[in-house]
Amino acid sequence: MLNVGLLGLGTVGTGIVEIINERRNTITGTSGTDIRIKKILVRNVNKTRNIDTEQLELTDNFEDILNDQEINVIVEVTGDLESSYRYITAALNSGKHVVTANKAVVSKYFGELSALANEKNLAFLYEASVGGGIPVLKPLKEQLELNEITEVQGILNGTCNYILTRMINEGKDYGEVLKIAQELGYAEADPSADVEGHDTLRKLRILATLALQADITEEDILLDGISSINATDVENIRKMDSTVKLIAEARKTDKGFTAIVQPMIVKNSNYFANVNMAFNSIAFKGNNVGELKFYGAGAGKLPTANAVLSDVLDIALGTYRKGNPLGKEDLVNLNESISGQYYLRISVTNDEIRDKVEGITREVLLDGEELAILIEEIRLAEIHELLAGLGLSKGSYFLAKIAD
Ligand code: NAP
Ligand code: HSE
Repeated sequence: MLNVGLLGLGTVGTGIVEIINERRNTITGTSGTDIRIKKILVRNVNKTRNIDTEQLELTDNFEDILNDQEINVIVEVTGDLESSYRYITAALNSGKHVVTANKAVVSKYFGELSALANEKNLAFLYEASVGGGIPVLKPLKEQLELNEITEVQGILNGTCNYILTRMINEGKDYGEVLKIAQELGYAEADPSADVEGHDTLRKLRILATLALQADITEEDILLDGISSINATDVENIRKMDSTVKLIAEARKTDKGFTAIVQPMIVKNSNYFANVNMAFNSIAFKGNNVGELKFYGAGAGKLPTANAVLSDVLDIALGTYRKGNPLGKEDLVNLNESISGQYYLRISVTNDEIRDKVEGITREVLLDGEELAILIEEIRLAEIHELLAGLGLSKGSYFLAKIAD
């Protein structure tokens, strides 16, 4: 019997309860183990929920779950960073396996929690933390033993991809589609984590640390989100027979690594251009296996709950990978060398701005109340220096790499 202490009964937690209710007999039949949700931690036990809670034991006291000796697995889907860290460390220290969908806590405490689980000989699994319902971390961990992985690239945030798809394909307004993404349960409690790129950055931190077998921290990753995109950008990008995606990528060379999250303009024929709405896709390259691509629902109740429960099943069956999956390669950060061709739109124009950008301009797309240009091959750091020198705030421009 696997007795689960579920932390959180929001979008994902509700999905977990629904799938277990529906599939319990089948799971017991195939795994030989009965999986039961014994207690559920919430903030407010009196809240009206869109799930029948009559048969569920809710508590607002984590100790009720921690001290329950029959609970052997903690499933953490609260989303809160520091309290989830306390819950997870306490669970591991008291001999309970842990599964989480919370990329913020995995990203911030990746090394510490992986080492603690390994020391205690317990599972610490987080498949749902990257790519929502896509099974990507388990295959990645499997390939690590056979391959040197040199590159990982992907669309990792369902909310951003949903917003960009509907803006580009349907001409919808940014604020309107962000609101819908929130209603559909895709967005984080604070959606700025999505649109400013922090959620994607945390997922890249997890993917890159595993893939490159080096500690690629949040601070090691360059970040730009999508919140400043406007209707002018949409029109310009469409005219380029292209679309725009928030892309995360990390690469390893013999000299070091680069890691970046940025909006990228991709031709409509590009693979990533056809990953739309809340779907995600992750590609990685191994020296033996070549390129592997994963595609599926990047967010939402049931896909995410499904990913969480695949980890729980791995614990029930004893099929999860044992040991600490994190590597110890010491790589130099080469982000200063990142270069490419870029699209830049600035909302305020004056002679100083026109003069300064002229030297890097390949083509002027628009020069009126707004200025939009294509920039010739250049180091990204040089553009950042120029923008900082002009005193432009992040909200007053939109910068996107033009995919090779
Ligand atoms: P949510 O709808 O906001 O639900 C959060 C739940 O956790 C609520 O039931 C809340 O209790 C409870 N909670 C929050 N803080 C708590 C605390 N400090 N102590 C005890 N309970 C607490 O969030 P969600 O969308 O299900 O996401 C949960 C986690 O999964 C997040 O880490 C998120 O990043 C991750 N995730 C979400 C998705 C998705 O598509 N939504 C996909 C992948 C990963 P009350 O109900 O009483 O308020
Ligand atoms: N807010 C996240 C997203 C949930 O939109 O991708 C899935 O991690």
